[in-house]
Amino acid sequence: MPRTQPIKAARGVRDILPAAIPLWREAEQGAADVARRFGYQEIATPVIEQVELIQRVGEDTDAVAKELYRLEKRGSQDLALRPEATAGVVRAYFEGGLNQGPQPSRLYLIGPMFRHDKPQKGRYRQFSQFNVEVIGGASPGFDAEVIELAGSWLDEVGVRDVRLELNSIGDAKCRPAYLDRLKDYYRPLKSRLHADSQLRLERNPLRLLDSKVGQDQPFKSAAPKITDHLCADCAAHWALVRRLLDAAGIEYEHNPYLVRGLDYYTRTVFEFYPGGARGQQDALASGGRYDGLAEAEGWPSTPGVGFAGGLDRVIELMAVKGEPVGTRPAADVMVLPDGDLAVEAAEVARICRSVRSTAVDYEPKSLAAKMRSANKLGVKFVVLLSPADAAQRTARLRDMSSGEQTDLAWVELPTRLA
Ligand code: HAM
Repeated sequence: MPRTQPIKAARGVRDILPAAIPLWREAEQGAADVARRFGYQEIATPVIEQVELIQRVGEDTDAVAKELYRLEKRGSQDLALRPEATAGVVRAYFEGGLNQGPQPSRLYLIGPMFRHDKPQKGRYRQFSQFNVEVIGGASPGFDAEVIELAGSWLDEVGVRDVRLELNSIGDAKCRPAYLDRLKDYYRPLKSRLHADSQLRLERNPLRLLDSKVGQDQPFKSAAPKITDHLCADCAAHWALVRRLLDAAGIEYEHNPYLVRGLDYYTRTVFEFYPGGARGQQDALASGGRYDGLAEAEGWPSTPGVGFAGGLDRVIELMAVKGEPVGTRPAADVMVLPDGDLAVEAAEVARICRSVRSTAVDYEPKSLAAKMRSANKLGVKFVVLLSPADAAQRTARLRDMSSGEQTDLAWVELPTRLA
């Protein structure tokens, strides 16, 4: 039965049309080039993972609690579309035996992630990330390295006006005592906090610090800062990361309220924003250290640090400042058969393709109409094919920029087009 309304794409997802593909390729190629320059190898993991693995990202995390795309259960496994890649890359590092090789493993991954978030500009339900992970390295040198790599990628693709925010959120040794202090501070203020924040106070008090609601803001500045309460090891790590960034000439801002939305972080956390913007949904790239994640997944305790860049957001910025896209024609050469010459036109196209991209206009329309659409497409050459030409295996080649026309044999086409 015919439908009254055409079927549209699912909400919050986008098609990348041919005109936008060159920018995507540039952003991805830039990512791969920079990653390789820093000695990282590519890894690809499945877009489906066991829900149990994903929950290790943090059950109070929005991406797990509210935004997870769970699949209908088939058989014994509970599966979902990955909301992020770090948990899966850590899993693959152990399952694939990379933990047995030289350490650390420097890995990168480019691919789609899925979160059932409220769609808006820059926030999609399917989006692409450039992930960089160093697994099996505890030194602050790796923290500074992935931050430098993220900055180099943004620079390489032409996104230069960025702001880097940095913080340390301690580890399992010092964070519990800090969280007690934070709760002690916020408890008397509880009734004045937003309802969501009231719930977070006991469950996940760190998230009170990155609350975006206006009602919570007046209380932040007097809240204890975690960087004032780090244990000796975390304090030394924090100092060294900053020293390394200073030495590399990388500017950053210490944001004591930066805590990140995923629960697995320890010590270093960071976010890159476009110059001027603030707030989590605008981050272009973000990450941090996750020394407890491997153990939370059931593997031997192994340190790790990394980040993910949001390709959709970075490409939106590239599109604003970059060259207009969509100017490249799909093919250099268009074969225009005059009449019912599909077999012959296909053969001519096959010959031309040995030297240039070539397409055929098979539509049953006049030669003049075909010329008009070839012109609109911006092709460099057309090959006009009449029934008399076809019978003799000849054609007329027209250079679209000069208007020059040449009659020639099919076999001469490659040399003339090269
Ligand atoms: P995340 O902050 O959740 O971290 O996401 C990283 C980046 O992905 C963000 O900075 C943003 O650019 C982009 N992004 C996130 N959600 C969306 C969305 N709905 N639409 C468009 N872009 C989005 C992680 O995913 C961590 N796994 C990063 C990491 C790697 N940490 C350590 N290693």
